[in-house]
Order: sequence, then structure tokens, then C-alpha cells
Amino acid sequence: MRPHKSPTPTAPMPPASPSHCDSATLSTAREGKAKKFSLVVLCSGRGSNLQALIDAAKTDALPVDILAVCSDKPDCLALDRARDAGIATRALRPRDFATRVDFDRALFADVAGFQPDLVVLAGYMRIIDPAVVDAWHGRMINIHPSLLPKYPGLHTHQRAIEAGDAEHGSSVHFVTGELDGGPVIAQAVLPIVPNDTADALASRLLPLEHHLLLAATRAIAGGEIVLHDEGVLRAGRALVAPLRLTSDGELA
Ligand code: GRF
Repeated sequence: MRPHKSPTPTAPMPPASPSHCDSATLSTAREGKAKKFSLVVLCSGRGSNLQALIDAAKTDALPVDILAVCSDKPDCLALDRARDAGIATRALRPRDFATRVDFDRALFADVAGFQPDLVVLAGYMRIIDPAVVDAWHGRMINIHPSLLPKYPGLHTHQRAIEAGDAEHGSSVHFVTGELDGGPVIAQAVLPIVPNDTADALASRLLPLEHHLLLAATRAIAGGEIVLHDEGVLRAGRALVAPLRLTSDGELA
């Protein structure tokens, strides 16, 4: 995700939206079914992280409802994956809007219409205007293929190799107006090997990214992780460093 640069003060998790107590929820509660934590996922491309969310959401591994998948690329593979799974889709073309912020407002009006608990940017490759990002403070996460704060932006695998780094990885962070700069929740780490290439490194990282995104989403859905003035809280305590993905797919 490539948001505009515009530092945003951290703020407490916003109160639950009115959707949490609307009549649909009440009638669902009367029927004895708990409303699941809900997601809208934004994608621009291949959608392998989306697929990991879809697959996990069909099992107890990730107790969430994916309400919709939204995109700035009407022909992207991610939307096909959503349709195949019976998930609602929305796509708008940036060129149909006069300005960048007009596009963002329109897309996020669609997102808001689904009343998700969390927005997940999973390979969403557009800068989002800070005015739009701010409305989702604490309720939007992004997966970025580097060990942030290293290498915000593009070409992260190549940059890590060229820098001679011993390790590379991926980060899931809360989204703020700063480019790939919001508070980091958790990271997956892997070694860079001799003669590594950007493609090889990206291929080895991708399955770890899927596990990382699932673990972070699960922790937020379960209320274990929230964004607060003090930064990312896990079970009420501020993280002093990002959590690490373990080999069994947990966060430690
Ligand atoms: C991932 O590497 C993710 O970290 C980055 O974009 C890629 C998306 O891949 N933000 P996919 O579309 O989920 O397969």
C-alpha cells in the first residue's frame, strides 16, 4: 500500500460503529448466532493473500466473514477469486474520476457500505489520500513485503539484496497517512541466501506472508491486538517490538 505522506497522531481504537447494534445484528442475536468479526479486503492483483484469507475463513482457523473484495483494477485475478468464493465485489477505475481523492472517497464509500470491522489491504497498490485513511484509523491493516521500517515503497526484495542484508521479510501494520509507516504489528522473517534473486526471495517469502496475514487478522478479530495512543497493544500491553511469526504460524 502506498499512502500519501502525512503524519497522523495515533488515537484510541474508535468506538464500535452503529452497525454493531443495528436491527440485523439484534435479530441475529435473537436467533442465537453471534455476529462474526467482518472484513472488507482491498486488492489490485493476483490475490494470493486474499485466497489465504478466504480459505482460512471457511475453517475455524479464522473466524471472520469476508463481506466484500474491492479493487482499483476491475480485471484483477483477486476479484475472480472473490467471485469464485461467492463474495461480493466492487471495482472502480481511477481514470473515471477527476482526482485521486475523488476516487478514494468513492471506493471507500463502497467499503463503508459493507460496515466492516476491519479493512485489509492485501496487495492494494494505490496511494490512499490521508483524509480517507484517517477515517479508518485503527481499523485498517496492510501487508508490506519488507521488515519495516526498512524499504517502504516498491522493489523491496531487490533493495534488501542490494543492501547486503542477511534477513528479509514481511510486515503487517496498521495504516496511517505515512507511506508504509503505520505501527507494525508483526513480521515474518527469512534469511537471504548467497546469489539470491528478487524473484526467488519473493517466492520463498509469499507463503510466510500468508501465514503472517492470517495470524495478525486473527489476533485483531479476537480483540487481542488493538491500536491505541501508546501504539500497538497486545492483551492490553504496548508492544516494544513487532511480534514475530513462529514456525507454527503463531505470533510471539
Ligand atoms: C504481497 O507481496 C504483499 O506483501 C504486497 O503485495 C503482494 C500481494 O500479493 N503488498 P498477492 O496479490 O496477495 O498475491
